[in-house]
Amino acid sequence: MALIDLINVKKLGGELDEAQLAAFANAAADPQTPDYQLAALLMAIRINGMSPRETAQLTMAMARTGDMLSPQVGGTPVDKHSTGGVGDTTTLVLAPLVAACGGKVVKMSGRGLGHTGGTIDKLESIPGFRTELPEEDFLRIAREVGCCVVGQTGELAPADKRLYSLRDVTGTVDSIPLISSSIMSKKLAGGAMGIVLDVKLGSGALMKTMADCLALARTMCDIGRRAGRRMAALITGMDEPLGSHVGNALEVKEAIDTLAGRVTGPLLQVSLALGAQMLLLGSQAQDEDQAVRLLQDALDSGRGLAKFAQMIAAQGGDARVCEDTRLLPRAAVTQPVLSMADGWLSRMDTEAIGLAAQRLGAGRSRKEDIIDPAVGLVLHKRIGDRVAAGEALATLHHNHAPRAQEAHDLLLGAVHISGAQPPRSALIRARIAIDGKET
Ligand code: URA
Ligand code: CA
Repeated sequence: MALIDLINVKKLGGELDEAQLAAFANAAADPQTPDYQLAALLMAIRINGMSPRETAQLTMAMARTGDMLSPQVGGTPVDKHSTGGVGDTTTLVLAPLVAACGGKVVKMSGRGLGHTGGTIDKLESIPGFRTELPEEDFLRIAREVGCCVVGQTGELAPADKRLYSLRDVTGTVDSIPLISSSIMSKKLAGGAMGIVLDVKLGSGALMKTMADCLALARTMCDIGRRAGRRMAALITGMDEPLGSHVGNALEVKEAIDTLAGRVTGPLLQVSLALGAQMLLLGSQAQDEDQAVRLLQDALDSGRGLAKFAQMIAAQGGDARVCEDTRLLPRAAVTQPVLSMADGWLSRMDTEAIGLAAQRLGAGRSRKEDIIDPAVGLVLHKRIGDRVAAGEALATLHHNHAPRAQEAHDLLLGAVHISGAQPPRSALIRARIAIDGKET
């Protein structure tokens, strides 16, 4: 099958059949295929879209270009995927809580790139923690502990790797069928039978409008259901970082403080809401109220924190960090960022806050950059808070003064103070339940 024929069909707004979509996915995984033909087809799809059937069939074909895992963990393997945010440490809070309630969390996570952090980088800030494990160890830990978080094992959806790097440089990232097939091809190949999606909305998110978030969530749920997976989705706010800590060891500390009951707030609220969907997907709970009660009990009793310690130890890490977070890497210098004005914190450019942490060394601008696990920033104010001139908006944790100056300026520019108190918006904006009902 010639790619030029597929390009011509999509150029004129037609639909590709299942065999043609499989040919596209296989061509993307074949290093002999020229970039220009794949790029032309991606642009035709970006402009003319794809039907739900086309999107689902392309996703399945992309998943089949690599390993297809089916983890045997003594229960329904469940996973969570976030479309990416800042200070978004929900995985480290919800995986142990869900495991403490009998769920089986089998999670392959990524590294941070650009303004968003990556769960694998965060976990590697724990001394000794291993994110690359032989598959049998990964499955044994998931089975025995109930949660295991590793980097990608094997080769999942190689077609996506090629297409994603082309989309990045051809203006074709912002396409709901292409984003959905990219994310879901990797999720389907990973083998989770229950998947909850956390689609982020706001200044730090990929999607900036509610309509786009809902369209993306519906499309991804539809793909998963057609592939026989149980699906649920939440649309959650990313107008400001979710937790107050941004940076790898700092976010691990916040997750431990949350599991220990010392910290509550948006990070815990979203973690409980996503965790509840995971218990429903794995049939550990019959309804949402029961699911939240089970999770809250795991939190209050300390069983969630004990699970996290168990997972850390099983993955080679120093579990004493759960008792004493001072054992995590710490930066040499802390420096406050002071407000220049009186008023209310009215708006944050969340992406710029993520970039400020990256400038300190918490993230990468290129894949090969080495990160500093200790550095980052802690926000002391949220949107809607009263702020006085000279009061600390945040504290930088750094190991390099010139970078701290850059991060300081980025952060000050990212936080807007106004004379009027802004309305607070809800954190959980919408949900798509397992049965497809939207609220
Ligand atoms: N994340 C992905 O994996 N793919 C996309 O297309 C966008 C975000
Ligand atoms: Ca991602």
